[in-house]
Amino acid sequence: MSRIKASVIGLGIMGQQHAEALSLNSEVEVVAVADIRAQIAEDLGARVGAKPYADYGDMLRAHSPDLVVVTTPDPIHMEPVLAAVESGATTILQEKPFATTVADATKMYEAVERKGVDLYINFANRAGELDMATNYVLREGLIGDVVYGEMRLDDNISVPTEMWGERTREWAGSSSVAHFLLSHVVDLLRWHLRPAEVTEVYAVSQRKVLGYTPDVYDAFLTFDSGTKIRVKSEWIKHIDSLVESYQEFSGSEGTVIYNRRPGFGAQPGWRANLSTAVDLGSADAYREILAQRGISVAVRAHRPELSSGRLTAGGGETRVALEQEGTLSPTGMPLVDHIIKAIREGTPEPSSWKGNGPLPGHIDGLRQTQVVAAIIESAEKGEPVSI
Ligand SMILES: NC(=O)c1ccc[n+]([C@@H]2O[C@H](COP(=O)([O-])OP(=O)(O)OC[C@H]3O[C@@H](n4cnc5c(N)ncnc54)[C@H](O)[C@@H]3O)[C@@H](O)[C@H]2O)c1
Repeated sequence: MSRIKASVIGLGIMGQQHAEALSLNSEVEVVAVADIRAQIAEDLGARVGAKPYADYGDMLRAHSPDLVVVTTPDPIHMEPVLAAVESGATTILQEKPFATTVADATKMYEAVERKGVDLYINFANRAGELDMATNYVLREGLIGDVVYGEMRLDDNISVPTEMWGERTREWAGSSSVAHFLLSHVVDLLRWHLRPAEVTEVYAVSQRKVLGYTPDVYDAFLTFDSGTKIRVKSEWIKHIDSLVESYQEFSGSEGTVIYNRRPGFGAQPGWRANLSTAVDLGSADAYREILAQRGISVAVRAHRPELSSGRLTAGGGETRVALEQEGTLSPTGMPLVDHIIKAIREGTPEPSSWKGNGPLPGHIDGLRQTQVVAAIIESAEKGEPVSI
């Protein structure tokens, strides 16, 4: 079978990673790369054996690639995506967020629908091992109905002040921490809680430190299932790590806590304290299903502590949990590997991704953009916004 002819538009931090990863994939041939910064295109082109362009329109006309990867800055996703759709590409892979305005997102959605193009979005967190474990536990009802949750995803302040060199102020000012980080959070939540959708958003923001872009967004999302989730992303955090990330879900019968990336000190960890309806034997069967998907968790029998004098933390009954086992060492771009399989197999849920639902596409992108736009609008108005 011939290789997928791929091209990449926007060759900064992510575009270079995509081009280099695809050039190592035996199913793909990176034929051309484009960036308005011509020298960057030339350097990368030489590294991955692709023809460099300063104008992506010229590139699309010259090569008619099957796959177009769009990795331009957040507010510049629409033009290259529409150009790729018009060029006759069969598949587009774009970076998150889908778009920074609902108007852009709607145009992109309609163009993709009209031409029947497959568009995938690199919401990379969906391929995190323990995010997949959370997804499985929530969707199998192993903590009962999801009632409430919290997802925080923060960047070190160095991201909006240093990450893109001398372009940083302009870059961060043309986007926001809501587009950059909450887009990931909103997508993960929609994936975990599907088919539920967000119907109302109530948000606050703060603008005291950066000036050229908001410092933080903090929002409550209500889903049509009744689930309520707090989401929060900051761009002003002074922490040791680049990213800090914490998630928890309170179900009617159990709790999932995922301390994904602590800002300092604390150990990362993932634990699902399961419903009493789950005994050790069935927990082991769930563990085995996760193991078959490459996710390593252990079954634990645990007893909530009874200590501290007369204060108790539970009835002293033995409960069953699934818990992270070993440390994770993520490599490469796992979601992109699944997307390449999806192209090969002609399905949004390829064999390597079985059981996880369709890979993120243009419908997810439109919804993600609507929710993030509602968060921004709610914070500006100081009142809830319905979607
Ligand atoms: N999936 C993830 O986890 C993840 C992580 C970081 C960033 N991102 C996303 O990836 C995208 C790219 O981010 P980045 O950090 O690589 O940005 P970047 O600024 O480093 O790279 C963007 C490149 O696009 C080029 N460009 C701008 N306008 C162009 C145009 N009209 N035609 C051709 N090239 C153009 C710029 O010159 C630059 O080289 C953003 O949307 C960002 O949010 C995703």
